Amino acid sequence: MNVKPDFTRDANQAATAPAYFSVHDIHAYYGESYIVQGVSFNVHEGEILALLGRNGAGKTSTLRTCARLGNPELQRGEIWLDHKPLHKMKAHEASQAGLGLVPEDRRIIAGLTVEENLKLAQIAPPVGWSLERLYELFPRLGERRKQEGITLSGGEQQMLAIARALARDVKLLLLDEPYEGLAPVIVDEIEKTLHEIRKLGMTTIIVEQNAVRALEISDRAIILDTGGVVFDGTAAEVLSNAELRAEYLAI
Ligand SMILES: Nc1ncnc2c1ncn2[C@@H]1O[C@H](COP(=O)(O)OP(=O)(O)OP(=O)(O)O)[C@@H](O)[C@H]1O
Ligand SMILES: [Mg+2]
Repeated sequence: MNVKPDFTRDANQAATAPAYFSVHDIHAYYGESYIVQGVSFNVHEGEILALLGRNGAGKTSTLRTCARLGNPELQRGEIWLDHKPLHKMKAHEASQAGLGLVPEDRRIIAGLTVEENLKLAQIAPPVGWSLERLYELFPRLGERRKQEGITLSGGEQQMLAIARALARDVKLLLLDEPYEGLAPVIVDEIEKTLHEIRKLGMTTIIVEQNAVRALEISDRAIILDTGGVVFDGTAAEVLSNAELRAEYLAI
């Protein structure tokens, strides 16, 4: 049995319910390069967390470490998702445990239609989302179900990448720059979808250069700088703190 430690207890706080997703003092390396330097944070079930910071701060590396991709390699620390020790797992096990990373390049599979991309991701019903439910959430994908996935627009490809994670029955969605290169109206559409899946209980971590847009839908925010956490608080605190924004987010 895996007994999850209570990382949510700190000096100023009585013990609270253990967080749904806990990252505790993780250290990770690309070869000799020490990149993730003792990152800790919690995400509660159903929450949206913005993971922010300048270029090269270590956001992607932190997500990749959590997904156990092996590169960067986790040397020390613990990662718990719903009482499951991801730090002891390989990437496919972390994925089975419910972690779904949607990488920046979206990884749509060439030669397959939208529907084939989704079917490939689907695990046996009734566990993952049905195609009907996915098309209800993303009507654009329904309209284009027979179109080859890689011929979709950037925004539609982002929707397909998120839909694919839902088809796999993801519990924790990690989005690396989902708004990159997208027009504001498409960002609106994706934001609306993230709200909808949040209402259904999804827990989400969003990494974004577009910090203001990410903060708008987030409950809390973490700011990283040179591989460590320099701020952990509410999204509203970041939006109202000009100094913090200027120093770490250039906004
Ligand atoms: N495969 C790699 N090998 C060695 N160093 C790497 C590798 N990938 C990233 N790094 C380094 O790790 C640091 C953090 O990179 P990371 O991609 O995690 O930053 P980021 O916060 O996601 O930045 P951006 O906002 O530009 O996406 C950078 O200094 C980067 O050069
Ligand atoms: Mg990145």
